[in-house]
Amino acid sequence: MTAEDLAHHGDAEATPGLVDLAVNVRRDPMPSWLAEPIAATLHDLAGYPDAGPATAAVAARHHRPAAEVLLTAGAAQGFVLLAQALRDARRPVVVHPQFTEPEAALRAAGHRVERVLLPAGTGFRLDPALVPPDADLVFVGNPTNPTSVLHPAADVAALARPGRVLVVDEAFADTTGPGEPESLASRRDLPGLVVLRSLTKTWGLAGLRIGYLLAAADLITRLAAAQPLWAVSTPALAAATACAGPRAVAAERDIAVRLAADRDHLVDRLRALPGVTVAGRPASAFVLINVAGADRVRLALRERGYAVRRGDTFPGLGADWLRVAVRDTATTDGFVATLAEVLADTGPATGAGPGRPDGPDGRTEDA
Ligand SMILES: Cc1ncc(COP(=O)(O)O)c(C=O)c1O
Repeated sequence: MTAEDLAHHGDAEATPGLVDLAVNVRRDPMPSWLAEPIAATLHDLAGYPDAGPATAAVAARHHRPAAEVLLTAGAAQGFVLLAQALRDARRPVVVHPQFTEPEAALRAAGHRVERVLLPAGTGFRLDPALVPPDADLVFVGNPTNPTSVLHPAADVAALARPGRVLVVDEAFADTTGPGEPESLASRRDLPGLVVLRSLTKTWGLAGLRIGYLLAAADLITRLAAAQPLWAVSTPALAAATACAGPRAVAAERDIAVRLAADRDHLVDRLRALPGVTVAGRPASAFVLINVAGADRVRLALRERGYAVRRGDTFPGLGADWLRVAVRDTATTDGFVATLAEVLADTGPATGAGPGRPDGPDGRTEDA
């Protein structure tokens, strides 16, 4: 039996009163350079939004012309626009495990979706050879939610080719360290490349709904035609402008450096627990772990005050996976101590484990 559920998201698990390690949105107070321009728009909401200045700011940030940017109501709207505007795709493929909304949006638009499953045995690393050569619409996440794996830019770029639209979900790219080493956001030479970005995660703006697509101008025109009029609100546009500036980019770098230290701490503590295996080489704001009886462990953690994200709803992950958000070291220490107690209470590990290093090859299947 599978617990797979494309519509399940971490916010369903982060119920009030629990320490939230289920949702990957940063919770720090908003800096004034971001809060003030958003607040200023509240005095001027009578007019319809003008996306022009924010589009220009985002384009400048990524060294592209404005015609190669489409602002969206969150990255989630980007998936819907792609699925709807590219209905003529014959062989859409989603590389899993990854965020479930791309596949959900494709299916909702009537596409028949194929999956490429990256195996745990190879640390969920992307192998471009697993993607069928005639796939004409391909979705991959980098870094990938929920595995936290950051694929080399060259491996992702190897998937681009004439006749194919390659969608790279970079919603977490700004968490991967100074300079976003594996980002393709500024690459204009790759045919059919669409890079999708979100301001939700690092800037704690899930409620505002702001993200964007970067692609060649002709593709942006097609995607824009599928978008509702005035889809991005004036406050969201103000956030996009502020987050595209040099101050924001510098702040992102500092946040990513601190995050890396907090992540190392979490990974070290988790690796010290018998029965817990950390997947791959985590590179983002969360860590994927394998632990036998993960469902029991998750429920026992809830009873002791901690929410973590179940892994079994992601295609390609089995029953023994949990996703844990990176938090400050004090929160991590409290969490890991509680996890150790839970593991001691729930007995020895009996699960299948995360796959042998020489585990099975990735496979393709119809969804
Ligand atoms: C990998 C990934 N991409 C995109 C999104 C959607 O982000 P947004 O809030 O911008 O719609 C999420 C949200 O959880 C995500 O995890």
